[in-house]
Amino acid sequence: MIGCEPFVNGVGALLSRIQEDGIANIRIFDDDARLLLEAMPDAVLGRVFILFSDPWPKKRHHKRRFINRATLDSLARTMKDGAQLRFASDHMGYVRWALGRLAAHPAFQWRARRARDWREPPADWVATRYQQKAQRQGRPAVYLEFLRLDRS
Ligand SMILES: C[S@@+](CC[C@H](N)C(=O)[O-])C[C@H]1O[C@@H](n2cnc3c(N)ncnc32)[C@H](O)[C@@H]1O
Repeated sequence: MIGCEPFVNGVGALLSRIQEDGIANIRIFDDDARLLLEAMPDAVLGRVFILFSDPWPKKRHHKRRFINRATLDSLARTMKDGAQLRFASDHMGYVRWALGRLAAHPAFQWRARRARDWREPPADWVATRYQQKAQRQGRPAVYLEFLRLDRS
């Protein structure tokens, strides 16, 4: 697992947890995840988690959202065939934005079959710190799961 987070306090908290729990399979990239994606070879990622990425609610800031065509192209290149991409957010404007862009991208297919699939977390879900706070404040999350389609 590679955790990407440029916010130093977030990285500090993660380092403490890694040490406390004796976890040995995590690497940390403490910078913009897009830089890491650009440096990666093709078809190496088995799973991608984009969890509560900043929604940038003001229209003039939408261009800063992590989900955009350039990032999705980068993910499509670096993800293996059949790899899974999970996106979660408590901001419905950003959810609609992400769903529209992911569904329109030829490399990705939405896995949802019924409303429960986006309203409830997958069975193995681990709530993030931000998510727990949003839940306490009455903002439930939406869960989107996409498949990276085969290249052939
Ligand atoms: C709302 S917080 C959620 C934090 C955490 N994922 C959680 O759910 O508890 C959004 C985080 O995304 C990080 N972030 C924003 N843009 C990023 C990028 N391009 N690459 C990596 N992390 C980014 C920010 O530093 C911020 O800590």
